[in-house]
Amino acid sequence: MSNSTIEERLTIITTNENIPENEFSSDVKVGLTSEPKFLPFVHFYDHTGSQLFEKICELPEYYLTRTETKILEAYVDEIISQFSEETTLVELGSGSSTKTRILIEAFLEEKRLSCYTPIDISRQMLEESSYALLKSYPVLEITAVAADYNEGLKQLSSQTDQPKLIIWLGSSVGNLDRSEAEEILKRIKKLTHSHDRLLIGIDLKKDRITLEKAYDDEQGVTAEFNLNLLARINQELGGDFNLEKFHHHVRYNDKIGRVEMYLASDCDQQVIIEDLDLEVPFAENEKIHTENSFKYSLDEINLLAEQAGFFVEEQWFDPQKQFSLNLFAPTDVCSLKNFRRIES
Ligand code: AVI
Repeated sequence: MSNSTIEERLTIITTNENIPENEFSSDVKVGLTSEPKFLPFVHFYDHTGSQLFEKICELPEYYLTRTETKILEAYVDEIISQFSEETTLVELGSGSSTKTRILIEAFLEEKRLSCYTPIDISRQMLEESSYALLKSYPVLEITAVAADYNEGLKQLSSQTDQPKLIIWLGSSVGNLDRSEAEEILKRIKKLTHSHDRLLIGIDLKKDRITLEKAYDDEQGVTAEFNLNLLARINQELGGDFNLEKFHHHVRYNDKIGRVEMYLASDCDQQVIIEDLDLEVPFAENEKIHTENSFKYSLDEINLLAEQAGFFVEEQWFDPQKQFSLNLFAPTDVCSLKNFRRIES
């Protein structure tokens, strides 16, 4: 790695220009004319939504970020000791890359980081976080990809043959249905060689009170984050949602093992969305389903890995076992290890 200027050390690949807005309007049309109504969680993350999410991560009730950070800090040496050669660090849904600094610093100290490749839907977020990182670490090189997971993963396939540590932190996998999670992991698996690993943060099943509080904080930041979806529809699609007439609603569905977030209407009302030529009726208490956050047991984590062609090579927890960091290795490595064991 060279000691050159920030501009020389940064490449940004954009594959998502113009797509998100189109998807937003068609998703809003489909979701608000469906029965029951829903809005896809991906639309939370405009600039305001991303900033609100950063605030959520610091809330006392939202234990996920804090706990995952502590696990990373405690076990970073063990994690990077799995890589003896120069490694490319790839991050899915990198956001502000705050937690990633722990890994970057450890890899840099060992002089074993080839490049950091953050993948995020928001180009603005990528630029801001990349500049901050490049300022902090004068030898770091970044190839950032502004794309959704699908596009970002395609870019990944054209990346170097060096070992890759792909990280997917924050239990973002939890926002996908279990079958969608399996699909995306299968896609990641297809892009991995036997020397690559996936480090994935997954939130664990626990008591209802802790879970519901984490998504319904006292300061109302999560409520604001949820209601920002309606504000987006007003600003970007000419909607006339009165945000005072909807409220944030959260419940832990223990049968399915997921926290569900809704926006509920306080009264019977009609909402007009001009750009979509749409009038949306709401009955009192009718809900828009805006997010699921799946929680996993250890057996479910093993199953998820297995179904996608991985196995859990290492696993780290906090002392209360609230959260897990999992190192997934491709299954062929397991067979290879067993083969060597049998041979020797
Ligand atoms: C990004 N994702 C993992 C968060 C979660 O916990 O499901 C999003 C979130 N929604 C409300 N609070 C946080």
